[in-house]
Amino acid sequence: MNISGKVLLFDPFITGNELASHIDIHSLRADYILISHGHSDHTGDALTIAKNTGAKIISSYEIVTWFAKQGLTNGHPMNTGGRFAFDFGAVKCVNAVHSSQLPDGSYGANPMGFVIEYAGGAVYYSGDTALTMDMKLIPMMCPQLTLAVLPIGDNFTMGVADAVLASDFVDCYNVLGVHYDTFGWIKMDHDKAKQAFSGKGKTLHLMTIGETREF
Ligand code: NI
Repeated sequence: MNISGKVLLFDPFITGNELASHIDIHSLRADYILISHGHSDHTGDALTIAKNTGAKIISSYEIVTWFAKQGLTNGHPMNTGGRFAFDFGAVKCVNAVHSSQLPDGSYGANPMGFVIEYAGGAVYYSGDTALTMDMKLIPMMCPQLTLAVLPIGDNFTMGVADAVLASDFVDCYNVLGVHYDTFGWIKMDHDKAKQAFSGKGKTLHLMTIGETREF
């Protein structure tokens, strides 16, 4: 995501993702890498990309410390409820209902979502999560969201029906769906998913891998 001229990567999972085999991680640019939780399909390529680009990792204290042990010492540790103003905008860490073990079995602390406020808008990146009433707090503490990035694949996270409710809870009409179609268990019907949102007057964006889109 390009926000205020800075490139933010979220939970990069490219190597090992059968749908992204055409993407060369060495070609990627990043100024910041935001990691919502410790699972390997979210932390997977962060170390290589951060080393290549000098990008700063923003995540829980425990995940930032885990990366520091592997040589990434410029990370920015945060925790749920905390907000910090970066040069692209402010990041607030919000609750996510999921799990968060790191790939080597280390403790990855609580999973998180991020609300990013920048000049001209705000984005909610929920991370992997179930639907939770905590989402209702988000419109109380930030400007009108420009975009909500929500998992929709079901099985490991919210499915489409719960994501529609989540978009109501956070008061956002523009949703970017993530966390679907990989691993067999989370394959889904794209048209049905879009219809579930359009039936409520909302737009579900489903991007192809490698695509660029402006919101
Ligand atoms: Ni996960």
